Amino acid sequence: MRSETQVWESDAPETTERLAAELAGRLEGSENLLLIGELGSGKTTFVRGLVRGLGGDPALVASPTFVIVHVYPARFPVYHIDLYRLHGLADIQQAGVLDLLEEPGIKAIEWAERLDGYPVPSAILIRLEVLGPTTRRIGVEWER
Ligand SMILES: Nc1ncnc2c1ncn2[C@@H]1O[C@H](COP(=O)(O)OP(=O)(O)OP(=O)(O)O)[C@@H](O)[C@H]1O
Ligand SMILES: [Mg+2]
Repeated sequence: MRSETQVWESDAPETTERLAAELAGRLEGSENLLLIGELGSGKTTFVRGLVRGLGGDPALVASPTFVIVHVYPARFPVYHIDLYRLHGLADIQQAGVLDLLEEPGIKAIEWAERLDGYPVPSAILIRLEVLGPTTRRIGVEWER
């Protein structure tokens, strides 16, 4: 297994979507995308591009708010998960998220830092950093 890191800079939401759509083309179907970044850094925007890149309907993608898991049909089903309101692995397990990590389908997980060291299989770490009002640094770490 080798690890590969890429760093991109995005200058607009559309660019973040396009970068995510490009990454979608490299997915095999069971990856867990761990999205880490502050409020408004572009996690949901990234998922919208991902769904578009997988041939799904990007208009379905909204912040999950009170629902922890949404699933969008696409080339692979995309499970959009928001851990913001869950604190601790016990809550996350109770919500069924740990079991979902083992299932086929792409899992895109906002606030993945809540998983706190849990050994996530097939993980791709995506860090979004706010540089300015419309600029973001996006780091992608693959283990493959
Ligand atoms: N380069 C960029 N990439 C992504 N979003 C951007 C960029 N520039 C500006 N934005 C804006 O930043 C906001 C990102 O919102 P988004 O819902 O994707 O963030 P989030 O990380 O999911 O936030 P939350 O933690 O609340 O779920 C949007 O309003 C978007 O238009
Ligand atoms: Mg969001």
